[in-house]
Amino acid sequence: MMDAGRHPRIKMLTYSEIEEVTGYVGNFKARIRKKAKYVNENECTACGECAKICPVVVPNEFQMGLSTRKAIHIPFPQAVPSAYILDMDNCLGNNPIACGKCDDVCDKKCIDYDMQDEIININVGAVVVATGMDVYDPTALDDYGYTRFENVITSMEFERLICSEGPTQGHFIRPTDHKTPKTIGFIQCVGSRTQDPERGNPYCSNICCMNTVKDSLLLKDHYPDIEVKVFYMDIRAFGKGFEDLFMRSKEAGVMYIRGIPGEIEQDPKSNNLKLMVENTTTRQLEEHDLDMVVLSVGVIPRKDQEVVKKLFSLSSTSDGFLMESHPKLKPVDAPTGGVFFAGCAEFPKDVKDSVTQASAAAARAGTLLSAGKIKIEAITAVVDEEKCKLCGICVRVCPFNAIIFDKATKQPAHVIEASCKGCGTCSAECTFDAITMQHFTDRQMYAQIEAILSDKPMEKIVTFACNWCSYAGADLAGLSRLQFPANARIIRTMCSGRVKDKFVLHAFKLGAPIVLVSGCHFADCHYIDANRWTQKRVWKLWDKLEKMGVRPERLQLEWVSAAEGQKWSKVMKACEELRQQVTEEEVQQTIKTLKQEEEKKSSRAKKQPAPA
Ligand code: FES
Repeated sequence: MMDAGRHPRIKMLTYSEIEEVTGYVGNFKARIRKKAKYVNENECTACGECAKICPVVVPNEFQMGLSTRKAIHIPFPQAVPSAYILDMDNCLGNNPIACGKCDDVCDKKCIDYDMQDEIININVGAVVVATGMDVYDPTALDDYGYTRFENVITSMEFERLICSEGPTQGHFIRPTDHKTPKTIGFIQCVGSRTQDPERGNPYCSNICCMNTVKDSLLLKDHYPDIEVKVFYMDIRAFGKGFEDLFMRSKEAGVMYIRGIPGEIEQDPKSNNLKLMVENTTTRQLEEHDLDMVVLSVGVIPRKDQEVVKKLFSLSSTSDGFLMESHPKLKPVDAPTGGVFFAGCAEFPKDVKDSVTQASAAAARAGTLLSAGKIKIEAITAVVDEEKCKLCGICVRVCPFNAIIFDKATKQPAHVIEASCKGCGTCSAECTFDAITMQHFTDRQMYAQIEAILSDKPMEKIVTFACNWCSYAGADLAGLSRLQFPANARIIRTMCSGRVKDKFVLHAFKLGAPIVLVSGCHFADCHYIDANRWTQKRVWKLWDKLEKMGVRPERLQLEWVSAAEGQKWSKVMKACEELRQQVTEEEVQQTIKTLKQEEEKKSSRAKKQPAPA
């Protein structure tokens, strides 16, 4: 951080928030609010005289509330710039000036109670999102008594207590009597790997096992006689050198007990803790007396993740972390062009992995900027300005904010090619057929449907599969030699969002017994939330079909991921069963109904007066 702070070409804006981002890859415009610190950071020498005299004492957030700070303070010892900041929520000297002591002692006259937030507008070509993570709050897990027993602490609080810059200068003490504990237990997976939403999250937080192994070694180094017990489900030590570290911890005498304790009780006199655990290795119920317990809490997405998502049109996976463009091929790229990820914003990771990803993100951003131009996929949307009626639907549905239009000046919709990813949702939603997708044009789509149904249509299942998940899932099913009916005819689209209702109706009009639309699971869609529009469209189509007397089951909607070859095979079998239930008469009736509908529509259109 020091290096970054001193670097001549790095401008650090601390205590600042991005309020708005517009533009696109290579051409972002950001509006940043630099919050008032009420201390001139360029003049402050961090002498500390102001903090010495400040009479306001509040809990120190950086030390997890285990020590206090003054209203005027340095947020944490390594903060850059190394300058004081005034916490106006607690300062007495703001309005009216009632204290002013810090101002009196500051030789440099750095204090400015009237300082205002500053708005900074900057142009940037690329963005790296490195917003970090939060830790799970175990307050809800009452059986561990985190809020009731002082000697039950979290792993974050442990870090502060054992740190030489922490509230106890690294002397590890238990909160109730300030003595070094003789026995200490770590409970793993607190808030992680649970299917019960009230007890945390289903995913593994990745870092807690090795953090505990490291902590246990630290304790053994500082206090060789301390007894350390770790209660775990399984220890995940899969990084480089991690197994060695785990073995070292065992050799140092740390006891690893396979089993997660149910409840913690406290002896009111001694404040010692008692916990019961089923040791799943020995299959014995065990009781352990401990001086302290550390809850090894998991990692959760940042609380303000939603704000970041909105700013950059990002999406998240089902666990709430930001979703990358492709998990294997573009693991540091966001789906939005020119945005990259570093660290735990994308998923919990340790320091080494965070540094690796940060280096990769910096390199990706550097490559983009140094090239001066960008290459885009030639599958972007194109607006036929003649047909555009300025309804604005395309603007609303585009997941990347890649379409602009100005109703006031009657400017038709315009696609920013650099931002468009080619999902096709705009084209599918445009009621006036004013948008088409290059290389996935409507004509090409209709031609594929017609080719499929030109021969023995009753035997075919017309299938629209998105490129990234369902098509890959079908591929996997084939590669894995899974058995499934071979009469599916797949039309590949980049996203299920491209599937227009007219494509489906066209297939039915040509005699398709079953149509299947398939895409990625929610939150897996490679175009942020484009498949939500697919779902809405299919819902509407089901209603429409029902009103026309066509069984809605003949249109199927399924979410199949690239790894779900098995599911694809099951879906195809189910579709085949449905197809066998569809009779020739039913199909002929559908064709008749759809043709009548079309005729009605065209006669209605003819009756309408021509635009002036
Ligand atoms: Fe698969 Fe959008 S990319 S549904």
